[in-house]
Amino acid sequence: MENKTKLAIRYFFAVPILILISVFALFIVFEFTLVADIREKLQTVDEHNPIAFGEMLFETRGCIGCHSLEEGKESIGPNLFDIANRESQEYLKNSIQYPDQTIADGFREGIMPDYGKILDKDQIDALVKYLSGVTQK
Ligand code: HEC
Repeated sequence: MENKTKLAIRYFFAVPILILISVFALFIVFEFTLVADIREKLQTVDEHNPIAFGEMLFETRGCIGCHSLEEGKESIGPNLFDIANRESQEYLKNSIQYPDQTIADGFREGIMPDYGKILDKDQIDALVKYLSGVTQK
């Protein structure tokens, strides 16, 4: 009888601990698969679709806050609605990499951040690909 009580007490503690450990283990596995999934998605965007990557950068790296892609909409920086009609890819790349080298008419230098120091080569190339496509009217 005494042994049975001891056993009952042991199970009383062991079962919740086992459940906790299992939940924790499941959580870890879930986290890892989730992180791997997100990483894989980012890589797919990065490697196979520079235009989607460029669009993501345009929307998340501040560009959209200073440049409008809609016709006639004023902003802090020049409207880029149809810039690809007027300028080459080389010009776009230069404007992003070295903003102060050429200054758009009616605008001042020193406002646009120096993206040559913020973004890497692949990111700048993706932005140029995205912009030259979406602003060609
Ligand atoms: C804080 C505001 C600001 C941000 C953020 C910004 N820009 Fe600019 N941008 C400007 C201003 C002001 C000019 C005009 C002066 C100049 O030519 O440097 C400009 C000029 C440009 C030009 C040349 C336009 C023309 O008509 O010659 C391009 C292209 C450009 N930006 C793209 C970008 C991209 C892409 C990003 C994001 C990676 C970005 N900008 C982020 C303010 C900004």
